[in-house]
Amino acid sequence: MTTRRQSWGSKIGIILAVAGSAVGLGNFLRFPVQAAQNGGGAFMIPYFIALMIVGIPLMWIEWTAGRYGGGFGHGTAPGIFHTMTQKNRFIKYFGVIGIFGPLVIFIYYTYIESWLLGFTILSLTSKYSQAIAAGEIGKFFSDYLSVNSVLSPAYIFFIITFIINFIIIYLGVKSGIEKVAKFAMPLLLILGIILVIRVLTLGTPDPAKPAWSITNGLGFLWNPDFAALKNPRVWLAAAGQVFFTLSVGIGVILTYASYLKEEDDVVLSGLTASATNEFAEIILGGSLIIPAAFAFFGPDEIVKIATSGTFSLGFITMPVILSKVPMATIFAFVWFLLLFLAGVTSSISLLQTPIAFLEDEFNMPRKKSVTITGIVSFVLTQPAIFFLANGVVDELDFWGGTFALVLFGTIEAVLFSWVFGIDKAWDEVHKGAQMEIPGFYKFIIKYITPTFLIAILIGWFIKDGWPVIIMQNVPEANKTYILATRLGLLALFFILAVLVKIAWRKRKSRT
Ligand code: PFF
Repeated sequence: MTTRRQSWGSKIGIILAVAGSAVGLGNFLRFPVQAAQNGGGAFMIPYFIALMIVGIPLMWIEWTAGRYGGGFGHGTAPGIFHTMTQKNRFIKYFGVIGIFGPLVIFIYYTYIESWLLGFTILSLTSKYSQAIAAGEIGKFFSDYLSVNSVLSPAYIFFIITFIINFIIIYLGVKSGIEKVAKFAMPLLLILGIILVIRVLTLGTPDPAKPAWSITNGLGFLWNPDFAALKNPRVWLAAAGQVFFTLSVGIGVILTYASYLKEEDDVVLSGLTASATNEFAEIILGGSLIIPAAFAFFGPDEIVKIATSGTFSLGFITMPVILSKVPMATIFAFVWFLLLFLAGVTSSISLLQTPIAFLEDEFNMPRKKSVTITGIVSFVLTQPAIFFLANGVVDELDFWGGTFALVLFGTIEAVLFSWVFGIDKAWDEVHKGAQMEIPGFYKFIIKYITPTFLIAILIGWFIKDGWPVIIMQNVPEANKTYILATRLGLLALFFILAVLVKIAWRKRKSRT
């Protein structure tokens, strides 16, 4: 390697950066909806099992594999897999998924993040409060989303969000990502705690309806329905949520960890980042939107609300709820700002991976790698913006944000324990470790983690795979868009694979 790789400035910096990637929209919007729909408190049983046998193991695997690959100048999966498997000719192509996934998620995640910036600002305007007062916030939201020109507010906020992301990334790992995480993460946690206190002290907002209380709202979310555990979908949903919320199985933590030094701890750091995420998810995420919606809309309406979709909860229900408390404007502002900060610290992690790929494997200077990634991701984002209503974002989320995670996580787990070898891997994990992983985890990581992941993949394929592939549930009018999205994704994957091939050919001719 001719160029020196970047590095983190401090231990707390990388922990907050990884926690920043993990704490995102998933914690505050996706988690409560998943829990409410999948057995309430009982959801936490498969959730904790998945956290213990795949979430945390994958966290350790990615921190370790990333630090190992970084030592050889590789910050993304193709190069990391290549060094971990003694330069096997084919395995680096599996690593393509670890660049493809972050790029695909970035395409739609940043757009959604930009709505939050939009609403953070718009929540201070009179148009917004008028819409709330008239009971028309739903229309306000759908008007915002119908982008028909580059001058639409949604498009302008998208451009601003996009630029913010690229400025942070351009400043680099230490001066960009780490600085932002150190500032945004404590702020986000404070805002979250303020909101939770506000919600939990709401008591019974309508004295005429004593059953509509926050306590009963917490009960609605958390009372266990054990019968749900018989349904395999609940288990799939729990595992999917654990992946998504921890940002594992996608490649971004590999990249972050590749900027560690050889003797930096990964065991305690990985665990701390995971614990921070779980606090934000279960304690904060689990105390906000669903209990509040219950207290204001009651036990019948909440069932409808919880199934109305993540976005309507965040952009319609929550603003209505917050409009009913004193200092409504401030609380709405805090809610959207909290989500925007959570979004930014996640989307920058998605960007760093393709940039690291260009830097490490093509020896590209930062300016050039950031510019290329900027142009490519800008172009790719356009269909997500203009064809949102045609199901393009859902399609991208399925392949990039769900399927790719489980597939890539499975590949990582198998490579780590079975190709790299669990004994060598165990020594590698414990280099510089500030804590020892209990011995039984060696067994879990070697046998249970891959088996569980493979079972999920097979289970998904048997249950849902074929109907998804043949677009059985896609409305006729959207089929062309979905097909085009799929072809686009295939093309992107193919181009990345070719880039890997070119990078290695160049490397051969260099050395
Ligand atoms: N963990 C993020 C959330 O909970 O919103 C989402 C995410 C970010 C997933 C980055 C994957 C990723 F690489």
